[in-house]
Amino acid sequence: MKEDQRPSSNHQRKPIITKAFTYPTVYIILLILSYSLGYLSQSSSVPTTQQSPQLPTPSVFQFSNLPTQLDNFRVTTHCGETLPAQLVSQTILDRVFNGISPYTNFPPPDATSLLKPKRIKGWGSYSTVFRNLIQRVKPRVIIEVGTFLGASALHMANLTRTLGLQTQIICVDDFRGWPGFRDRFKDIGMINGNVLLLYQFMQNVVSSNATGSVLPLPFSTASGLQKLCEWGVAADLIEIDAGHDFMSAWGDINRAYRILRPGGVIFGHDYFTAVDNRGVRRAVNLFAQMNNFNISTDGQHWVINTT
Ligand SMILES: C[S@@+](CC[C@H](N)C(=O)[O-])C[C@H]1O[C@@H](n2cnc3c(N)ncnc32)[C@H](O)[C@@H]1O
Repeated sequence: MKEDQRPSSNHQRKPIITKAFTYPTVYIILLILSYSLGYLSQSSSVPTTQQSPQLPTPSVFQFSNLPTQLDNFRVTTHCGETLPAQLVSQTILDRVFNGISPYTNFPPPDATSLLKPKRIKGWGSYSTVFRNLIQRVKPRVIIEVGTFLGASALHMANLTRTLGLQTQIICVDDFRGWPGFRDRFKDIGMINGNVLLLYQFMQNVVSSNATGSVLPLPFSTASGLQKLCEWGVAADLIEIDAGHDFMSAWGDINRAYRILRPGGVIFGHDYFTAVDNRGVRRAVNLFAQMNNFNISTDGQHWVINTT
């Protein structure tokens, strides 16, 4: 009830107010009021600002910049000036093997009795993708990332020979296999803890009469690909088949891409494997997305044409 009575009393005082507050006075009061309100509203916003949980957390902020953040994962080192294909083999012999073919005087006496004349085992190593790509690309240089006993490398050597191509195949592999691989490959020899995977691979190359076209680069894929890049070694065709977890596949694909000749083809096995929550496929897809490439598949292999 009291509230209802106020309008009438205010109404009665209206002429007095009008008189007392002339236009300039009202103007000044309004100015002071708006200034005070502005000040108050700013002060009252301080507690809101302090309520940081209302703002995006750092992790959310990073995700909102995802394309920029992904740039951090790019491999950016510049490669050396590209060597002509005919100098690739000699460059690797000079840089890695003191200028002498590793097949010279092979095998060493202490390993001879532990090697089989030919011991080959691969995974999808004879798939149609190899013939399809080699026929189409006619590569002068092939780099294989992940070789093991050389099944796919020797298959590619056979294909290039059959097609009359002069192709150098570089096999980047630390030739360590993976922890526990000898559970399935007990017959691969070992001397003082040194598993003879490299030697058995080399023996397979010798038995396949391919020493002139297949060279091992026995290092980690990261350091091997990095050095090829620095030395200016580039390939027309690169196969990725080393580590199958996302991080390994991601590193290998990106490092390999740096040493792919313009218009070359990069491909790899196990696009459909479930290892590491489909790590290979996630790495390939992300790489293709970031570089605007299309992915095609050929059996279990993924293929990216960079033309
Ligand atoms: C699946 S096998 C390769 C099979 C071969 N492409 C074939 O089809 O016959 C994988 C190979 O990758 C090699 N590898 C895995 N991770 C590697 C790494 N980080 N650096 C060097 N070699 C690696 C292993 O030693 C193994 O020989």
